[in-house]
Amino acid sequence: MFTNYYTKMKRKSLYGIFSFFLILNACQKAAEKPPYTIVQSLVEDSAMVVAEHPLAAMVGKEILQKGGNAVDAAIATQFALAVVYPRAGNIGGGGFMVIRLANGESDALDYREKAPATAHRDMYLDGEGNVVESLSKEGHLSVGVPGTVAGKELAFQKHSKLKDWEQLLAPAIRLAAEGFLLTESEADRLNEYKEQFQKANPDARPFVKDGVWKMGDRLRQPDLARTLERIRDRGAAGFYEGETAEKIVAEMQRGGGLITLEDLKNYEARWRTPIIGRYKNYRVISMPPPSSGGIVLMQLLTMLEKFPLGSYGFQSAKSVHVIAEAERRAYADRAKYLGDSDFYPVPVDSLLDPAYLADRMQDFDSTKATPSEVVGPLVKIGVETFETTHTSVVDAAGNAVSVTTTLNLNYGSKIIVQGAGFFLNDEMDDFSAKPGVPNYFGLVGAEANAVGPGKRMLSSMTPTIVEKDSSLFLVLGAPGGSTIITAVLQTLLGVTDYGMTLDEAVWAPRFHHQWLPDAITCEDAAIDTLVRKQLRGMGHRLENVGRMALIKAVMVLPDGKLHGVGDNRNPDDDAEGF
Ligand code: GLY
Repeated sequence: MFTNYYTKMKRKSLYGIFSFFLILNACQKAAEKPPYTIVQSLVEDSAMVVAEHPLAAMVGKEILQKGGNAVDAAIATQFALAVVYPRAGNIGGGGFMVIRLANGESDALDYREKAPATAHRDMYLDGEGNVVESLSKEGHLSVGVPGTVAGKELAFQKHSKLKDWEQLLAPAIRLAAEGFLLTESEADRLNEYKEQFQKANPDARPFVKDGVWKMGDRLRQPDLARTLERIRDRGAAGFYEGETAEKIVAEMQRGGGLITLEDLKNYEARWRTPIIGRYKNYRVISMPPPSSGGIVLMQLLTMLEKFPLGSYGFQSAKSVHVIAEAERRAYADRAKYLGDSDFYPVPVDSLLDPAYLADRMQDFDSTKATPSEVVGPLVKIGVETFETTHTSVVDAAGNAVSVTTTLNLNYGSKIIVQGAGFFLNDEMDDFSAKPGVPNYFGLVGAEANAVGPGKRMLSSMTPTIVEKDSSLFLVLGAPGGSTIITAVLQTLLGVTDYGMTLDEAVWAPRFHHQWLPDAITCEDAAIDTLVRKQLRGMGHRLENVGRMALIKAVMVLPDGKLHGVGDNRNPDDDAEGF
């Protein structure tokens, strides 16, 4: 059973309580009162929103209280995140939404960014064919054609109950125009990135000011408010055409970027068929390509199903070993076979075939690590910035939404569209700039994920909904780059196999293996010293990282109540419900 690392919080737990965990985790910040009441574990009767910022979660709750469904709440929450969580909430990025309606039907929405029409496979290489690393991560060439606004409009058109687009935009517009009070975490982050904002922009206001930001300072975003008003008035055309589009293109021309008016006008979000699979008596609904999340998650669950993980014990050597070995194999497949299925024949059925996956584990040795086929250079995987944001919603009718959206790295490319007030993504780094050369997350790729005009870059975002015995059971997802998939896996296994409550599962320390580099990366508190010694004895290399993905989840309890849990790794994660 899970050792008692954390105090259990069955009901409302206030900020003061989770700051206890921060101290436990040796994050030695002075406890200061934040301007918001933050609740990280909440049980309510009817409806729940868990998001990365309390103001955004409250917006979602208000929309639900006004009669909106889970899709309405997710749209409004995400627009609010674009204002109050500018490091990742966005209109200049992209994302994925997985929906399960109360009648059991499911849907998957792809609004991932696309490469501009003039992008080409060698665009990040120098004359000698070497990757110029900074080009795909910083500056105008790193920007993919944003998908977020198109995605929200498509979700609204198909699934909104409120049928009132203006109402979904109103809270975000108000927060941008009137301003809002910064949390300590956002103030710190804005200060940390100040120089990068100044370097990337002729005018970095309002994100840069004289002196330093402090918790409780008001951030007003008048340009963003006007951009959101154009989206309110014209829908997606208020972003992809007219003034906003012209400002984006002017921004591209300022820095040698590739996005044109035509790229913007041609952008389309797409409905996809979700990846659906079984694990024991659970049915898992997740995101298909261009995310790797659903396929890799289902591969892992299928490979692990025959192992009695619960009886092995949570983070025992046996458990960690078999999970890491399954992860090694699934991430190797990710690198070779996964990319945008509109451009590359991703062998989805073969990758999910139980016979193939049984074969994949044929060489699993319960006593020793299988070296990764090609041991890559020891790259440090970039999981310490939390550049993506996830929202989980369940409404009173039982509709559920799991939505993850991203700018890629914190504040994306750091480029603010001048006069329009929002950050542009640097999602192009999620392509494989050159076969075998790792991206920011240490992920390598091949032909399947090579840069191509109009192509969507491969993602690890894993918005997921799980049924138990055919009823809604769990809604979850996370930011955290390549560690998202393994965090979703471990949270799910926590409740299905290790007998944890949802808060125990979300807050439990985590580990991760992604084939290359050939190492188990661990949060400091993950895997005790003795077990680490046993794993090293089996041939595993272990590396510590500060923290991994930040899960936001809602679980339906046996009595029908909803348990919403934010991640105690992020002081601003908040659950709101009624
Ligand atoms: N940019 C991170 C991801 O999509 O996986």
